[in-house]
Amino acid sequence: MYQRLFLFVILVLSSVCVHAQIIPQPQKIVYSEGNFIVNNRTEVVCLSFRIQKQAEVLAGYLKSYVKGGIKTSTKYTGKNQIVLKENNQLNGEEYFITADKGVVSCEAATPAGMFYAVQTLIRFFNVSDEGLSLKLMTMKDSPRYSWRGMMLDESRHFFGKEVVKQLLDVMAYLKMNRFHWHLTDEPGWRIEIKKYPKLTEIGATGNWHDRNAPRKFYTQDEVREIVAYAAERHIMVIPEIDMPGHAIAATRAYPELSAGGTGRWEGFTFHPAKETTYRFIDDVMTEIAELFPSPYVHIGGDEVHFGNKIWYTDPEIQQFIKDNRLENEIGLEHYFIRRACDIVNRKGRIMIGWDEIIASGITPDKAVVMWWRHDKPEQLTAALEKGFKVIMTPRIPCYFDFVQDDSHKIGRRWGAKFNTLQTIYAFPGNISSLVVNYSDRILGMQASLWTERVADVKRLYFMLFPRLAGIAEDAWTNPESKDYPQFEMKIKQFLHYLNQKGINYFNPFDPESTPEPWGPDKADVIAEG
Ligand code: ACM
Repeated sequence: MYQRLFLFVILVLSSVCVHAQIIPQPQKIVYSEGNFIVNNRTEVVCLSFRIQKQAEVLAGYLKSYVKGGIKTSTKYTGKNQIVLKENNQLNGEEYFITADKGVVSCEAATPAGMFYAVQTLIRFFNVSDEGLSLKLMTMKDSPRYSWRGMMLDESRHFFGKEVVKQLLDVMAYLKMNRFHWHLTDEPGWRIEIKKYPKLTEIGATGNWHDRNAPRKFYTQDEVREIVAYAAERHIMVIPEIDMPGHAIAATRAYPELSAGGTGRWEGFTFHPAKETTYRFIDDVMTEIAELFPSPYVHIGGDEVHFGNKIWYTDPEIQQFIKDNRLENEIGLEHYFIRRACDIVNRKGRIMIGWDEIIASGITPDKAVVMWWRHDKPEQLTAALEKGFKVIMTPRIPCYFDFVQDDSHKIGRRWGAKFNTLQTIYAFPGNISSLVVNYSDRILGMQASLWTERVADVKRLYFMLFPRLAGIAEDAWTNPESKDYPQFEMKIKQFLHYLNQKGINYFNPFDPESTPEPWGPDKADVIAEG
């Protein structure tokens, strides 16, 4: 008797699992009895030209499973059809799927919404020897946040376009839609700017580990290719050109634009008191705006105090502070940010900056704040109270250069803290009252991967996966539809997907099966706090 009951429970549980293997978890699914069976008389019907491409994707998928093929049509009959139709009542990325015995229908208001509907539908088909079937259901789904992002630092180490494309594929699989591309910093300038060829002739040489590594950068044609590849997957690419600090690669190429500190910090900042600096930024932004259709350009703005020692003694800079009544070096930093913001705005774009920009005097109609300093929650509060739109990527738990398992030797920690799959999945629960009170100002969140200690693709993927799936579900799924034990089961499926793609990962269920890749950092253990 107990044995039978046990078997029954297992069967029920496993049928639940079969229908829940998708990350991010849809907001609402209600199943009913029965199945829609796909056969060689099933038609894919597209009722609008705008979503034609998605109909082709779906028909292409089904054809590979159905002997005799799948028909396409533009006529609704209500019999044995899978229908894709526009529904202008829905929000941008929202979609509905209803499956009954005669018709499966996918509804969305935009190509992005239909992209998500079709991707989801494909993953809900059961494949068996008899062919394809779909459990009858209704699904209503839309993202919690419009910004579901990942940042990749390609200045410290460069990975190249095939890796970026593979990342974009996985992001799309996880319904992530913002690729923040950190293209300039101390070790290397990674994007061709035609007006300033030395940025890539000189500034693209080297990486974090090797000052003399051969130069690596993206040509403008490659950038266009990646932006287009992302757009096909409904992913926006947001470039970051870091300033006034983290500018060493640029000032190495054009020393006349340099200020900064001494030693390690030499050339760390652009010269804040020279008009030629602002002309340079304007010219760079002209080319950036031509390459990236994104409404946003990220100008960094972080950690200027690390390397602006010269600002305190240089007579030209001190005179500039006096002449412009900027009070002090902080006032000068804020002046720089306002100038950069003005340049970006004049290119028709909204500026994004790290949370240092909050105090610079720019207004929320001109810029968006990226909150990163988890130890300064007051920065998040200040940004929201001032009316800024905010993207959340606090170091804990959203920085993926932090280790994910206590046994790991390379990567950051914050005291005893690091970023496990589970702590990521709990986000943003710990700051929930702010997040709830200002939900209209929070655009969303992203994982950010700095690559000081990520020198190759194997380690890159090890740091990203499966943690990226945690951010994907945090950003898409409302808290009431999230469930960690269920998420863990889905992660096991996700690891299969990564295996099929040949993508490396950390296995949190069996850490010893996926030893930490060392790269050049053998025994280089970092503790930070
Ligand atoms: C940052 O981590 N410096 C934004």
